[in-house]
Amino acid sequence: MDLGLKDKKVILSGGSKGIGFYTAKLLVSEGCKVAFCSRNSESLKKAEAELNSIGRGSAKGITANLESESESLGFSRKSLEFLEGADILIHNASGFDHSGDEEGWMRSFQVDMMAGVRLVKSTIETLKESDTASITFVGSMASKFHFGSPPNSYGPSKAAMRVYANDLAQHYGKDGVRSNVISPGAVWFKDGSWDQRKKENPKFYAAVEKKIPLGRLGTATEIARVIAFVASPAGIWINSEHIAVDGGQVASVD
Ligand SMILES: NC(=O)c1ccc[n+]([C@@H]2O[C@H](COP(=O)([O-])OP(=O)(O)OC[C@H]3O[C@@H](n4cnc5c(N)ncnc54)[C@H](OP(=O)(O)O)[C@@H]3O)[C@@H](O)[C@H]2O)c1
Repeated sequence: MDLGLKDKKVILSGGSKGIGFYTAKLLVSEGCKVAFCSRNSESLKKAEAELNSIGRGSAKGITANLESESESLGFSRKSLEFLEGADILIHNASGFDHSGDEEGWMRSFQVDMMAGVRLVKSTIETLKESDTASITFVGSMASKFHFGSPPNSYGPSKAAMRVYANDLAQHYGKDGVRSNVISPGAVWFKDGSWDQRKKENPKFYAAVEKKIPLGRLGTATEIARVIAFVASPAGIWINSEHIAVDGGQVASVD
């Protein structure tokens, strides 16, 4: 199946590693031009070189800390300059608060929520010009089940993201802009958060694996494929959706 991604212009927050990087690899190999960001210029350079070595689309890494309003807006401005337009916005970076302290709450809401709002506001007029525009948020199944103590801002910020994505879909549908959330369950990739947990607490990791009907954690490629499909022109009739990609980890119907 042709996803229709060739020559599409993509703004992807995060992307130097993890699910964002696997998504960027897939998009570049489908012929997209991708602008992505991270706080670390060294890892950006490395990721950019690897993405540009794929030889189909192209990629540019932009240094930005999405906790900051001006850096978030700077990321979208530089992305639009590089891409000369935009068809797809993917908000993937997260503040990853698991502490529940004041700083963690602020970081989650700045990165998961407010950076998403700022990226949308600063790109929406350009997205409207595309005939296949989409906005995709990377959420988490923590937006629908108890993820772990102490109570913290990770799940609540991902839940707020789902409400915002629905608002966007309802409001901008008339302009041809779709909006959806993809929520992964636990995902293993080398040097990722679950790789770290596996090393630090193998018993806990094994218990999580056992709870997943398929008997293992997801992979970053498996998540990236769903993100790419939903964001692509091939996914054009998916709008205003929250899509779980968790291998059945969360044992509920809706
Ligand atoms: N991994 C999982 O099991 C899992 C499960 C459910 C949902 N998710 C969701 O999937 C998304 C990606 O997770 P991941 O596990 O792939 O994370 P990751 O490996 O830590 O990668 C996160 C990416 O975002 C960038 N980033 C983080 N904070 C940033 C900031 N303040 N400003 C700019 N860039 C920033 C990181 O680069 P720098 O650190 O260099 O800035 C990196 O490129 C997140 O939204 C997460 O909530 C992940």
